[in-house]
Amino acid sequence: MKRYLAANWKMFKTTGEARETAKDVVENLETRLPDDQEIILFPPFTALQSVFEVVKDISWIQLGAQNFYPAEQGAFTGEISPDMLIDAGCKYAIIGHSERRHIFQESNDFVADKVHLGLKKDLAIILCIGETLEEREEGLLEKTLKAQLDPVLNNLAPSDIKNRLLVAYEPVWAIGTGKVAQKEDILEAHNLVRSTLKKFLGQEGENIPILYGGSVKPENSSEILPLDNVNGVLVGGASLDANTFSEIIIKAL
Ligand code: PGA
Repeated sequence: MKRYLAANWKMFKTTGEARETAKDVVENLETRLPDDQEIILFPPFTALQSVFEVVKDISWIQLGAQNFYPAEQGAFTGEISPDMLIDAGCKYAIIGHSERRHIFQESNDFVADKVHLGLKKDLAIILCIGETLEEREEGLLEKTLKAQLDPVLNNLAPSDIKNRLLVAYEPVWAIGTGKVAQKEDILEAHNLVRSTLKKFLGQEGENIPILYGGSVKPENSSEILPLDNVNGVLVGGASLDANTFSEIIIKAL
């Protein structure tokens, strides 16, 4: 399976800053990245166009958006549709990020609606799931991950996926906190996700990449990326600097 290295720039970077960071990532990696690895940059909406200009002719780097609204079009002031993102050059979208679930109260069902529409539209979706510290401490890891995965996987046929669904396990307590999950925690959660995917999708469940996210840095990427069932990383804070993001990748080659 390919390795996926995703940079989530959240609500950071103007159009010019995003363009420069994307150019630096390309320059750092173009002669060093093996064929079986894919970089995905997720700038804010306003910078999609400027980053697209940098990456459009390069096969190993793709553009993605951090969110969309689950409707084709309509009176949804302030929202953006999958077709608009595709028109802007996006191949990917992040759906269900913990900041959307917790700050904007997105429910598991609402997240599932987005995943289903995105896949129908041929966007590749990185579905983020993960437990809070409270849920972990109460022994609710499995229950929480299942509650987040089930509404997405219910009513989804293996043929709907066509290599366009990825899952990112991001423990909420490790996002932006500097606290990285222990190897055992990552293995346990990724194995749980893999077995749930297989339960719903059979053999196709084996082919869905599972990314880890939460305080990934150059100091820990070479420990995380080789783990079983870890098929890539979703990087927030440490992806804002092109050299740091590139180092995360290079250190784990
Ligand atoms: P972080 O964020 O790397 O800053 O912890 C990860 C994410 O939010 O996807």
